[in-house]
Amino acid sequence: MAGKDIGRRNFISTLAAASIAGAVAPALQAFSAVPSKRAGLLAALGGEPVRPAFKQWPKWPHVDERMIEEVVKTTKSGIWSRIQSPVNGAVATFEKQFAGLIGSEYCIGTGSGTQALAICVEAMGIGPGDEVITSPYTDFGTVSAILTSRALPVLADLDPDSYQLDPADVERKITPRTKAIMPVHIMGLPADMDKIMAIAAKHKLKVIEDACQGALAKYRGKSLGTIGDLGCFSFQASKSIACGEGGAVVGNDEALMDQCFTVHNHGTNRKGKHVTIGPKNRMNEFEASILNGQLPTATGRFLLRNKNAAYLSSKLKGFAGLVPQKQYEGTESGGYYNYAMSYKKEHFNNATRQQFLKALAAEGIALSPYIPNGLHREAWTDHILELEEYKDMFPAARLKAWREAVSSMPGCDRVCAEMIVLPGSGPLIAGTTDMDDIINAIMKVYENRDKLASL
Ligand SMILES: Cc1ncc(COP(=O)(O)O)c(C=O)c1O
Repeated sequence: MAGKDIGRRNFISTLAAASIAGAVAPALQAFSAVPSKRAGLLAALGGEPVRPAFKQWPKWPHVDERMIEEVVKTTKSGIWSRIQSPVNGAVATFEKQFAGLIGSEYCIGTGSGTQALAICVEAMGIGPGDEVITSPYTDFGTVSAILTSRALPVLADLDPDSYQLDPADVERKITPRTKAIMPVHIMGLPADMDKIMAIAAKHKLKVIEDACQGALAKYRGKSLGTIGDLGCFSFQASKSIACGEGGAVVGNDEALMDQCFTVHNHGTNRKGKHVTIGPKNRMNEFEASILNGQLPTATGRFLLRNKNAAYLSSKLKGFAGLVPQKQYEGTESGGYYNYAMSYKKEHFNNATRQQFLKALAAEGIALSPYIPNGLHREAWTDHILELEEYKDMFPAARLKAWREAVSSMPGCDRVCAEMIVLPGSGPLIAGTTDMDDIINAIMKVYENRDKLASL
């Protein structure tokens, strides 16, 4: 097997590096499974699909008896809000377990990842006139969390190979108004945290990690979310640990975490005193029950995602047509919200990404382009400039410079144009033979790349 892999790898490298003509036949021999199908007609053109329709992917969200039991227990108990049982209730239990799992001193359950991020911004005292640097390639919840406190989200461009914030651009975007950096661990893989933490230390900035996609992933021995000052998670239905809608803030600074608690509890502190401004963003006992039932098996699925991701990457190694997400030194594991790759059309006879995805879907492998546009291309960028409050908070020259900067994100544009993902929840927790189906389908489409233009 190893010999075959090496043969194929070397072969594909050769294909990628040089002219492809004449080299395809040995590649077919070197690649292991189902040669008759690979050699055949594209399913999109009437051939037999690599993966027949009866083969199902694992269902998502994960449901098991223990989760159901926890919800039933909570339903019967009548304790449905965390304030009814602040120490031993389902939310309090979840907070202790999740903090233990990721190695954080404190954890606060919230109603969503967006709420968790917004709580951090507010609790740090970041507000009108302040700036927070973050990524244009993320869920809008990241930016929304900064806008909620009426601070200015400043977007830095991406490293187009890792899809993560480019630390050099982060540093260029710092102004005297910058208060924090909010790195997003996109796809659940670690951002370039050594450099981001060094920049934050140099400029005395806070770091709020958006680890919404990165539960359980590790970087240099630390879980994502525990590297910066505060870390945030999402347990929305598609996430690897899911309860429909839910989130968490984690941190080690007791005073800051107390402030987060107070903010998320409509400004009311743990002693019941109404001391500040805040929304009501508490996790409820049902959400926590689903999570408590799920945590005992979450690590198993996390390990499986990592195993399958490593397997896919080993099969794609040296293949220039689909390049897996670059990982930074120090990455020990990933949350793998998605297994992400860059599609290089020049290696597919210049077929568009859409044509490639169409051919692949017909083979029974549904991959997707994920986020269509960077957030710098969405309407909020103009909307906030029209708001009187932003005009009051920031000098006109600053807003003009901000608008200009936000209009140019070439790294992010490239990521959006090339991105192809396999969902981490569902397909990435399937078996090795399912991963082989994915690779075989990719190779079949690759070998038929001269036919893609007709799709
Ligand atoms: C990177 C990232 N940040 C923030 C969020 C927001 O989390 P939620 O949907 O739980 O509000 C998400 C969820 O999609 C996300 O993927």
